Amino acid sequence: MSETWDEVLRRLVKDRIIPSPLYRVLLFGPPRTGKSSIAKELFSQPERVTIHKQLPTDDLLGGYGLINSKTVWQDGPAVRAMREGKCIVLDEVDQISPECRCILHALMDDPAGITLPTGERVEAKAGYCVIATTNALPSSLPPAVLDRFDLTLLANTLSAGLRTQLGKLATQADAVVGRDKTYAWSRPASINLFLAAAKLRRKGLRDEAIVSALGLTGQSATDALIALRG
Ligand SMILES: Nc1ncnc2c1ncn2[C@@H]1O[C@H](COP(=O)(O)OP(=O)(O)OP(=O)(O)O)[C@@H](O)[C@H]1O
Ligand SMILES: [Mg+2]
Repeated sequence: MSETWDEVLRRLVKDRIIPSPLYRVLLFGPPRTGKSSIAKELFSQPERVTIHKQLPTDDLLGGYGLINSKTVWQDGPAVRAMREGKCIVLDEVDQISPECRCILHALMDDPAGITLPTGERVEAKAGYCVIATTNALPSSLPPAVLDRFDLTLLANTLSAGLRTQLGKLATQADAVVGRDKTYAWSRPASINLFLAAAKLRRKGLRDEAIVSALGLTGQSATDALIALRG
C-alpha cells in the first residue's frame, strides 16, 4: 500500500526536508481526518489560527495594546512563529479575505518575512513552517496562494494519531471517510514545483526522490518527472 499523507509528512520531517528547505504545506480533504492536529505531533508547540472571512489582520500579525497605560506592540501568532522558528497551522485557509491575503503571501514568501506596523522587519527564523488546511479543493484558493505551497497532500485517510484515538472504531470511521469521493484533484503545473525541486536537487536528491518528497504519485508523479527533465 502506498504511503498515507501523514506518513509522507512524518518521513519528510524525519529526513529534514520539512521545515527546511521545504516549509509550506497544504493539507486538503474531507472533514475530520486529523489535518489540523498533525502539527502537534510533528513540531513543538505550533501556533494555530482559524481563518475566516472577517478575520482581522491583527489576529495574524498582532497589534497595539495597553500595558501599564503604555501603548505597546504585541506579536500575533504569525509573527511569533517567524520570530521563534515555529510551525504555524492556518486552518480553513480557503476562507482568506483579500485583506489578509497580502499577509498570507508574506508568510509564504521565500524567504518568509514581514514588516510590522511598527516599522520593524521580521524575517522567519530556521524552523518556521506553515501547515494550511482546508476542506475545499486547492483550485478554489487564489492562484498566488496555491502556487506558494511546496507540498500539497490529499488527506483523505485518518491519520495514525486519530486512528489510535478512535481505537476499535477506526475501521468504522474509515468507511465514513472512504465514502467521500469528491476530492478528485491533480496538481496543475506550478512554478513553485520547480523551485521546490531545485532546492531538493541542491540537497542531492534525485528526481524520483524529489517527486516522492513532493507527495506526487501516479500520473502526477510521471508528469512531474517529464516536466523536470524538460
Ligand atoms: N493525533 C491525534 N491524537 C488524538 N486525537 C486526534 C489526533 N488527530 C485528531 N484527533 C482527534 O480528531 C479530531 C479531528 O481532528 P482534526 O481537527 O485534526 O481534523 P481535521 O482534518 O482538521 O478536520 P476538519 O477538516 O473538520 O477541520 C480532533 O478534534 C481530535 O479529537
Ligand atoms: Mg481542521
